[in-house]
Order: sequence, then structure tokens, then C-alpha cells
Amino acid sequence: MSTSRGQILVCGGAGYIGSHLCKRLAREGFQPVVFDNLSTGHRWAVKWGPLIEGDLLDPVALAEVFANHRIQAVLHFAAKSLVAESMREPSLYMRNNVVGTLNLIDAMRQAGVHRLVFSSTAAVYGNPEYTPIDEAHPTRPINPYGWSKLMAEQVIRQACHAEGLRAVCLRYFNAAGADAEGEIGEAHDPETHLIPNLIKAALDPALGVATIFGNDYPTPDGTCIRDYIHVEDLAEAHLSALRLTEDAGGCEVFNLGSGVGYSVAEVLGECQRQCGGLPRADMQPRRPGDPARLVANVERARDGLAFNARKDMTSTVASARAWHLNLAGVMIDGRP
Ligand code: UFG
Repeated sequence: MSTSRGQILVCGGAGYIGSHLCKRLAREGFQPVVFDNLSTGHRWAVKWGPLIEGDLLDPVALAEVFANHRIQAVLHFAAKSLVAESMREPSLYMRNNVVGTLNLIDAMRQAGVHRLVFSSTAAVYGNPEYTPIDEAHPTRPINPYGWSKLMAEQVIRQACHAEGLRAVCLRYFNAAGADAEGEIGEAHDPETHLIPNLIKAALDPALGVATIFGNDYPTPDGTCIRDYIHVEDLAEAHLSALRLTEDAGGCEVFNLGSGVGYSVAEVLGECQRQCGGLPRADMQPRRPGDPARLVANVERARDGLAFNARKDMTSTVASARAWHLNLAGVMIDGRP
């Protein structure tokens, strides 16, 4: 594999989105160097470069990474990202996501590395005041996870203003789908996200039923509307963002979504279409903290990153299904 274009540090590269980036970077001729504490990531997902087991809360380990590699730029995915967990343990989220980012920026400054692409979230907007949501929408998070990402963005912004950091913050809407070759995909434990939960319920003959949280929202079919973006489309956007940090100074912010909203019932329908009528739906009350509608305005990403989501809901569900059919084998074969 050619690594002639140099090394990119991927913090959180053993996780869902980070591992897809590693694969994409390797295809572009970069060597991804993964730094991950494996708290939620997987050893088997690191295939395209070295894995350094370490924590962003350990400045010595971070300094060593920069001392031992010729890092050109950093992609930062390493974060706690469960809303419900953040409500129970806010300090964990602040420490991990905010202090971790601060440590990373300190280590970058000391090593003379000035390019950063940061994995942020639509959770920074809180309850939408209008949709589609653009980047000028007020940022009023409604949970510690959203706050931790917004505060990390602020840490990054200050470093851009005062210390010459060149950064791009990417606010994802609902990342979904899997690698086209089925090598990597979503494997959270516990799994809270809609599409993997629907697929898992469809594929498990003992289950066959998925939970739908609420059908009394002010939407056409009563279920929540979200903007699902395929993880391979996300990967493309990160490559553009990385290029942007080559010459653009300051701190840029972009929404990453498809710009199209799907209701939970529509996603369920697509899964049933692809999985022989399963899963069936078990209707439950609303899940606390779920806004009715979250859809991205993607004009800024279109203009600034030349970004267009290419994958639709059909291919997103198909890739997630293929991945879940593969998952057991991957985990057994891939375990050290
Ligand atoms: N849902 C179900 N059943 C499930 C899982 C989810 O009905 O088994 C519903 C949820 O109630 C919600 C929708 O499906 O209406 C999507 O839920 P997800 O958990 O898949 O995703 P979220 O929209 O809650 O979360 C995503 C990211 C978060 C981010 C948030 C805000 O995963 O990190 O968007 O942008 F904070």
C-alpha cells in the first residue's frame, strides 16, 4: 500500500466513522496512524496503519505519538457520544471531549502540527428553531454531549485565532450505513441508533421486532424526522476538509447531512422492504430529548467543501444490512 502522501493522525480511528476515514485515507495514499483508547473502538477495525493504544487525557502518550511519527494533520473523532450517558455522567463528557481536545491541541502546537479536522455534531444546535438548520442557527445544546462538542469547538476556535491552528469543524447529522466492501461498519455496544437496531431486529429470528419511540410528533406520519448521511459520504467530506486546512486559515464550520429528512416510519419501511417484511414495529412512548425534526441545510458544505451526499436511503440500509450479516465473522476473525 502506498503511503507516499504522508501520515495523518486519526484520534478515534478504531471507531465507526474514524475507521471508515482510515480506509479512505489509505486509498488516497496517506498512512492513517490511529490513536484510540479502545473504550468503544475495535482492534479489528484498524487495518490501514498502526494502532497506538492511548488516551487523549494522557499528554505524555500524545507527545510520544507526535515525536515518533511525521504527522501532517489530525482528524479527531475520539469522543464519548451517547446522549443518554451524557445526562447521567456530564463530567465524563466534559473531561473526555473538552479536556481531551485541549490536550490534543497542546500536543499539536508543541509538535508544530497546525491542521485539524474535528468531528462535531448537530447536537450543538439543541431544539431547532427552524429547519433545515444552517450553521448560523443558534447553538443551544440540550444535553451535556452537545455542550461538550460545542465547548470543544470553542477551544479549537480560540487556538485558531491565537495560535495559528487551521481547523474545520464538521457538524454531523445522523451518520449511517457501512463500507461498500463490508469490511467495517457500526458496532456499538449498547447500540442506540435507529438503522442498526432495525437491521439487527430484522436479522435476529428470535427478535423480529424493533422499538419505535413515539408516533405522536408534529410530523406527517407522527414519527421523528432525521437527516441520515452515509458514512462513506462523510468520509469524502473529511478529505475535502483536510484539503481546506492546507491553505485556509482560521476555523471553518460545516453541517454534514444529506439535506433530506426521513421519518422513523419511512426508515422502518425501507428496512422491511429489504429484509423480507421484518422487523415489525413495537410502538413505545417518546424517548426523552428527541426533537421532532432535524434536517441539515447543506449549502455551505456544497460551496465550501464541494460536498454532495451521493448515497440515498436505499443504499444506506443495504450497506448496513450487508455489514450486519458480516459482523459476527469479522469480530471472531479479527480479534487478536
Ligand atoms: N429511534 C427509534 N428506535 C430505536 C432507535 C432510535 O425509534 O431503536 C428513533 C429516535 O427516537 C429518533 C430517531 O430514531 O427519533 C433517530 O435516533 P438515533 O438514536 O438513531 O439518532 P439521534 O437522532 O438520536 O442521534 C444522532 C446522533 C447523536 C446526535 C444527534 C443529534 O447519533 O450523536 O443525532 O444530532 F447527538
